Amino acid sequence: MNYRHIYHAGIFADIFKHAIVSVLIQSLLSKEKPFCYVDTHAGIGLYDLQQAAAQKTQEYATGLVPLLRAENYPALLKPYLAAIAAYNKVDNITVMPRYYPGSPCVVRHLLREQDRMILSELHQEDVKYLKQVFWNDKQVAVHHVDGYQAIKAFLPPKERRGLVLIDPPYEQENEFAKIIDALVMGLQQWETGVYAVWYPLKDRMITNHFLRKIKTRVDKEILVTELTIYSTEIKNTLNGCGMVIVNPPWQLEEKLNALVPWLWNVLSLNKQGGCRVEFI
Ligand SMILES: C[S@@+](CC[C@H](N)C(=O)[O-])C[C@H]1O[C@@H](n2cnc3c(N)ncnc32)[C@H](O)[C@@H]1O
Repeated sequence: MNYRHIYHAGIFADIFKHAIVSVLIQSLLSKEKPFCYVDTHAGIGLYDLQQAAAQKTQEYATGLVPLLRAENYPALLKPYLAAIAAYNKVDNITVMPRYYPGSPCVVRHLLREQDRMILSELHQEDVKYLKQVFWNDKQVAVHHVDGYQAIKAFLPPKERRGLVLIDPPYEQENEFAKIIDALVMGLQQWETGVYAVWYPLKDRMITNHFLRKIKTRVDKEILVTELTIYSTEIKNTLNGCGMVIVNPPWQLEEKLNALVPWLWNVLSLNKQGGCRVEFI
């Protein structure tokens, strides 16, 4: 396991992913009933952008920096921006923040007392850090397990409402196949859960194959959204990314149709690439 998310913290793909996760959580918050958030590949939770690894790549220059320079934020983005501000102990972000919250921290900021979350992380060092971030937090369980095994072990949660985020590093050649198997298994165990899978856009043929396979094996509503900020001609580069959402909450398509083009406008500095939101 070579992947460390600290090198990529705050990249445009993080902004896209975390903005959408926060919108999904807002949908769950619309009912009083408790829900459970399951993050299969949780990372370390909170990223110190002053650390050498983050400074070396400065990938946040493609995401967090243009996001914070933007104006006229859509209302849907405010809970996510509030989460970034909260981890930096300010009310509003006016200067470049030191800390960037990953998916577990963005969601933790939005949970109510009745909600909880289950996090899995396989990297030995990263899981130690993650446990420290949520030390003594009764609403958060952190497990040092394979995220795909976590789906088998922890679904369905007792709340029977919630979101599963599948956000692997795509280090392994068979990652796409493993995700589809995990989705199918998850849905067998918990068919009404909302599932969000983040994926990289480097090679359109691979992505199209992945989406076609999901469609053939998952007999549920599937909403796909993508954001590309560079020309798709550039090979082997993270030109963009996407999210597959199985069992999307009510009106998610409309919400993403308002949010994702706004994100593209802010994050695609040279106005390359594009975005989409559609059912497949
Ligand atoms: C893209 S990062 C996750 C980022 C995080 N979800 C966020 O948005 O803040 C992927 C993480 O998965 C971890 N990982 C890799 N293989 C795993 C596996 N099989 N099970 C659980 N975690 C794994 C890596 O150590 C890495 O921290």
